[in-house]
Amino acid sequence: MPELTVNSQRLNATLEALGRIGETPEGMQRIAFSPADVEGRHYVMELMRQAGLSVRIDHAGNIIARRGGREERAPAIAMGSHVDTVPNGGKYDGALGVLGAIEAVRALNDQGTVTRHPVEVLVFTNEEGTSFHRWLLGSRAMAGLWEPADFNAVDSEGVGIAERLKAIGGDLAQVGEARRRRGELHTYLELHIEQGPVLYQSGISIGVVSGITGRVVFQVGIKGAANHAGTTPMDARQDALLAASRLTLAVNTIVTQEETCRVGTVGTVVVKPNAVNVIPGEVELGIEFRDIDMGRVGDAERRLNEVAPEIAAATGTEIEVRRLELGQSCPIGNRIQGVVAEAARRLRLSSRTVPSGAGHDAQAMAAIAEAGMVFVPSVAGISHSPREYTSPEDCTNGASVLLNALLIMDEE
Ligand code: HGY
Ligand code: MN
Ligand code: MN
Repeated sequence: MPELTVNSQRLNATLEALGRIGETPEGMQRIAFSPADVEGRHYVMELMRQAGLSVRIDHAGNIIARRGGREERAPAIAMGSHVDTVPNGGKYDGALGVLGAIEAVRALNDQGTVTRHPVEVLVFTNEEGTSFHRWLLGSRAMAGLWEPADFNAVDSEGVGIAERLKAIGGDLAQVGEARRRRGELHTYLELHIEQGPVLYQSGISIGVVSGITGRVVFQVGIKGAANHAGTTPMDARQDALLAASRLTLAVNTIVTQEETCRVGTVGTVVVKPNAVNVIPGEVELGIEFRDIDMGRVGDAERRLNEVAPEIAAATGTEIEVRRLELGQSCPIGNRIQGVVAEAARRLRLSSRTVPSGAGHDAQAMAAIAEAGMVFVPSVAGISHSPREYTSPEDCTNGASVLLNALLIMDEE
């Protein structure tokens, strides 16, 4: 079959439209379960219906849109991603994978092509984990990877997972029904921006993803003693923010000097009572470490648990390290990498293998289907920022590679 391409103008118009849902001067605010997220979900479901897909929502709130195949009982070839964003996020993270998949279906419709395998477009709930600190929430439900912490999660507003799921069409009591068996899906293929600098710096059009990073997340509680900033001598303080600052530096040292794992970040700080004339009595830190090698993630965790009590003793504070999440890394199989590379070749696009430093729904879906990813360049490698940008041409290239990879797999 000659290579097919998608309609660039149509795809990029939908990217612009979705990019206006939840847009603020500080960036995208389509946080999972927020009104903007619900509006974004409704927008993509309308596009799915216009493309002739039959749309349903599973008990984890995942959107599952299906296009029949010539062999209706054959395992479906699935494509998808997420529409929720991080706070102050960008317009392409997740959105491109969903809208690129819908555009691939429209291109099949334009050609009057009916694939042998059924085709599905999937939109996963709360990929970012901004709500509940439980990332890949929807894809892990579909893959049967939920843990007790998922079932009894309560968000920062004190609202439980049951209520949040109900509001988007899910049902916690039946969330186990969202699990799909291995064999139901032929493959899961996700188009995504690289969110890093490799493709952009090398001038390569397509990334054949070779593996997806593992990640461990901690909530660290530091208790000192709130006291008067003006009258308390410096040697009589139990300053929780001083301890938190030393722990923040220690996270950086554990990664950069001790070379335990690839990256480590302290992304959230909550200071109490947070008044300039009060010595901080309590601090909560959010910390994560990532590496494709889970042994190195474990090394970083071990070192964090070693330095915390040392800092507590030196500052007269109590430090509690609580592990919130552990996400396994995921190698991508050579077969699916070959399919993506062949699709790029057919379109005469340059390609190279790239590891993913970001997490993705594909690493959950790998538990129930062969999973692969197609990357396109992020300008200057920027993501999780309003400065996130991928050119219309690169978005189009990525969706055309997704479409041709689908056709190659369908011919198998
Ligand atoms: O955080 C990540 O790696 C992804 O964007 N969820
Ligand atoms: Mn993201
Ligand atoms: Mn993403």
